Amino acid sequence: MAAPPRPRPRQIWGYLVFWVVADEMHILNLAVHPQQRRRGLARRLLSEGMGHARSLGARVAWLEVRPSNDPARALYHSFGFQEVGRRPRYYDDTQEDALLLAYYWEEERDSDQ
Ligand SMILES: CC(C)(COP(=O)(O)OP(=O)(O)OC[C@H]1O[C@@H](n2cnc3c(N)ncnc32)[C@H](O)[C@@H]1OP(=O)(O)O)[C@@H](O)C(=O)NCCC(=O)NCCS
Repeated sequence: MAAPPRPRPRQIWGYLVFWVVADEMHILNLAVHPQQRRRGLARRLLSEGMGHARSLGARVAWLEVRPSNDPARALYHSFGFQEVGRRPRYYDDTQEDALLLAYYWEEERDSDQ
C-alpha cells in the first residue's frame, strides 16, 4: 500500500496584526514576504482585517508608519487613511518620527448619503 503524500510545508506570505478595543481598531503590523509583494496581498489582508474590525463595531482605525515608508504610505492612502498626527522619535532603531494615520468609518457613511 502506498504511503499517503507528505503534507507540503506551509509558507507564510504575509500577516496583519491588529486589535479592536471598544470602537477602535489598532493596526500593529502588516508585512508581506519580499518575494510576494505587489500582488495585492497587503491590500487583501487590510481589507479583510478592516472588514472584520468593522463587524466588531470599530468606528476608527489607527496606525503608525514611518515617513520614509513610501510603499506602506501609498497603500494606506489608497484606503483613505488620513495623517492626523506625528509621534516624535517613535522608532528606537533610527529615532525616526512616526506618522499617526486614522481611518474614520463614519466619514465613509456620511459620504454615502
Ligand atoms: C507595505 C507592504 C505591506 C505592501 O505589501 P504588498 O502586498 O506588496 O502591497 P499590495 O500589492 O497589496 O499593494 C497595494 C498598494 O500599496 C501600494 N504599494 C505597495 N507597494 C508599493 C511600492 N513598492 N511602491 C509604491 N506603492 C506601493 C500601491 O498603492 C499598491 O497598489 P497598486 O499595486 O494598485 O499600485 C510591503 O511592502 C511590506 O511588507 N513592507 C515591509 C513591512 C512594512 O513596511 N509594513 C508596513 C508597516 S506600517
